[in-house]
Amino acid sequence: MTHRRSAYKHTNASIHPVCHDEIALSFVYYDLPPRSSDELLPLVNDSPHKPPRRPRYQGKNPRQFDEKYKELQPEKYAEDVAKVTASGKTPAGTHRPIMVAEIMEVLRPRPGETAVDCTLGYGGHSRELLQAVQPGGRLIGLDADPIELPKTEQRLRAMGFPAEALVITRTNFAGLSKTLAEHAPEGADVLLADLGLSSMQIDDPARGFSFKQDGPLDMRMNPQRGLSAEEWLKKVSVADLAGALSENADEPQAVLLAKAIIHAQSQYPLTTTLDLAELIRRAITRFSTEATTATIQRVFQAIRIAVNDEFEVLDALLRQLPQCLKPGGRVAILTFHSGEDRRVKHAFKQGLASGVYSRVAPDVTRASSDEQHANPRSSPAKLRWAIREA
Ligand SMILES: C[S@@+](CC[C@H](N)C(=O)[O-])C[C@H]1O[C@@H](n2cnc3c(N)ncnc32)[C@H](O)[C@@H]1O
Repeated sequence: MTHRRSAYKHTNASIHPVCHDEIALSFVYYDLPPRSSDELLPLVNDSPHKPPRRPRYQGKNPRQFDEKYKELQPEKYAEDVAKVTASGKTPAGTHRPIMVAEIMEVLRPRPGETAVDCTLGYGGHSRELLQAVQPGGRLIGLDADPIELPKTEQRLRAMGFPAEALVITRTNFAGLSKTLAEHAPEGADVLLADLGLSSMQIDDPARGFSFKQDGPLDMRMNPQRGLSAEEWLKKVSVADLAGALSENADEPQAVLLAKAIIHAQSQYPLTTTLDLAELIRRAITRFSTEATTATIQRVFQAIRIAVNDEFEVLDALLRQLPQCLKPGGRVAILTFHSGEDRRVKHAFKQGLASGVYSRVAPDVTRASSDEQHANPRSSPAKLRWAIREA
């Protein structure tokens, strides 16, 4: 239904209640078989003159993000939120920190130390780090997201730590050395980067990261900077898009999908997440449902990585890391796909060879099976660590 609304939006000018052929023609733009009249009738009946439907939400099993008012107020509805968590889901508007015990084990933060969290998110790891460096220590938290950052700062400040123990800055971690030059020129004792997206960002359709709910095709961690996914797709060539799909997500159908997306983009604007998801579905009609979902996930991941320059900023972080750590300082990085892990592994290995690091993780650590079961979002996570030479 939602797709039909999306399709309707793009073909508005050509639709007449009795002229199905014109609607069918409009699907030629997708380079895909036109739909039958039966299929198209609901589209026609979804007329702009019809009064909008009353929302059917009864309050029992909310499905849409903004209907989940209890989950969005975890302080007020702690019991309901605990039930959602126990069912293996992440309550809307929150994020469950991953591999907390393993990270604390490798970072070993001590009272009085300076901890840096490059990816503050919901503040789950930061809270633990902040606690561990008390008394006398402090946490410097960075995040690029101007929407979630103030909420996280408010939550952390309400926890009763001394005001001076918490420094929060809305910065891309590519500018880490500049931030530390201002707030901790001596460097960090411990440093964490938990890459990728928070659950708040993934689950909020308005951010445009999710292919499950309709939202603007945005995908920026900081929507105030750079090009949205929609704008990026308007500018990118088939070759560059195919390269991004292949490099950022190992997409086997990179060329086919790049051609389909750019061709569609030249015919009508792709403005919503469901527009893009539906276009991918139609480009690979012979795939199973699971394979189709996996393809959509990979395309979204690849575009998100491109829009946020994720590999470039990670490379910049890895280059700056040694100078941002005190001698003997510890760093832990959580990655979520092979493109990220390869970079971290390579940088740590090179740092060990050149003597910048005295020790690095011999292998990745994964979330325990209990954690993966309780929080499926921890399944792809890989943890690596390094210790700067003393
Ligand atoms: C996986 S979440 C971190 C969750 C956090 N560890 C917690 O316990 O809540 C990743 C966060 O990093 C932020 N982020 C991703 N790339 C970034 C970058 N280059 N610079 C700054 N923040 C970034 C995202 O906005 C997001 O809030």
